[in-house]
Amino acid sequence: MTCCPRTSYFISSVILKSSDMSGICLVDEIQQERLYCVFRDSNMGLSAKKIAGSCEGTYNACIIGLLVSATLVYALNLKFYHSISKIHGNMKNLSDIIQQTFSQTISKRLIWTQLIHDRNFTNTLDQCSWPPKYLHGRETLNRTVFDLEDLNEVFTFMKDGHYKPTNCTPKQRVAIIVPYRDREPQMKIFLNNVIPRIYRQQLEFGIYIVEQTSGVPFNRGMLSNIGFKEAILDMKYDCIVIHDLDILPEDDRNFYTCDDNPIHMAVKVQQFKYNLPYKGFAGGVTTFSKLQYEKINGFSNQYFGWGGEDDDLFTRMKKNNYSLIRPFEEFGHCGSIKHQQANKKNDRLKILKYAHKIWQRDGLNNLKYNLLIKRLKQLYVWIYVNIDMLNVRKSLDIKLKK
Ligand code: BGC
Repeated sequence: MTCCPRTSYFISSVILKSSDMSGICLVDEIQQERLYCVFRDSNMGLSAKKIAGSCEGTYNACIIGLLVSATLVYALNLKFYHSISKIHGNMKNLSDIIQQTFSQTISKRLIWTQLIHDRNFTNTLDQCSWPPKYLHGRETLNRTVFDLEDLNEVFTFMKDGHYKPTNCTPKQRVAIIVPYRDREPQMKIFLNNVIPRIYRQQLEFGIYIVEQTSGVPFNRGMLSNIGFKEAILDMKYDCIVIHDLDILPEDDRNFYTCDDNPIHMAVKVQQFKYNLPYKGFAGGVTTFSKLQYEKINGFSNQYFGWGGEDDDLFTRMKKNNYSLIRPFEEFGHCGSIKHQQANKKNDRLKILKYAHKIWQRDGLNNLKYNLLIKRLKQLYVWIYVNIDMLNVRKSLDIKLKK
């Protein structure tokens, strides 16, 4: 079959049965022929395939579900994007590219030269405006506990716990690490409030819920270290945010970004009457570049139960000549989500006394954990780990005696 000049086109979604790839294609309306396709494979990569020229035969055998679903105009509207985004994730990129190509092309046969942007692709789009244009400012938290299914429906732009702006290059790629155990309602409130705020900041972000098995006391520091390690395995993040589940920024001018010093975002927390409890308070929400976090050797692994790990963290920053800065202090209001009060009795003060001595040998560099599950959910990456308290403590006791 010859490939004739085309006069009109539409976009169709396809699934390649043989290779488990999904994608969308630009289709010649008259010939009902796929000209250009972009596929997402199971490794999250996007690849573009020029079909025209080979015309019939090449893909016919394996392409099923060729849907005459929309005209180009309809394809570019949000409704269509939402309906295909569940399968195709970042395909709005593609719509943008097709739109651009259409508006530029004179020839009927399109030459696809733009890069397809995805997590693993170099981004050639303009920088997203900074500060972002569509911020809301301060808004009190929405404390309604929605079902996860409903949240999935609302935040369709999230896929595999990840979001990347589609029409500009984000200022930073940010991993949000949330130590977690046994607080499902609070987690839903967290997602419903945090996701739209970071989205409006036009950042690329991944959310990691790091859950500790039951048995031994909760260890926020160690879960943060685990989240850090697991996140940087996934992609090149510019910024790591250690985020309490129950302290949530109310103002989207409080940016989830990193600078040349660690940033403290939870400056005015509701449970402290919207004041800073003390100058060295490093809890709640704190951001680090990868380098900063590695230099301070992350959190101590020794704090089991409530408190102390953030004070220890502050010591680590000072030891490395970092200041904990508060550039968005004015907008640092954070709501607190209520939950049952933790038992505050433990040995944190004893360990804290040694913070300045042990930071170099206790933290990221001696972290050991048993990864039980790492699963991509729509809104977050779920990491489920077992921590062996006896072993963690054993290493400390030996070294403390020296
Ligand atoms: C604890 C911290 C806690 C702070 C505020 C301190 O006594 O050591 O871990 O963040 O109080 O509640």
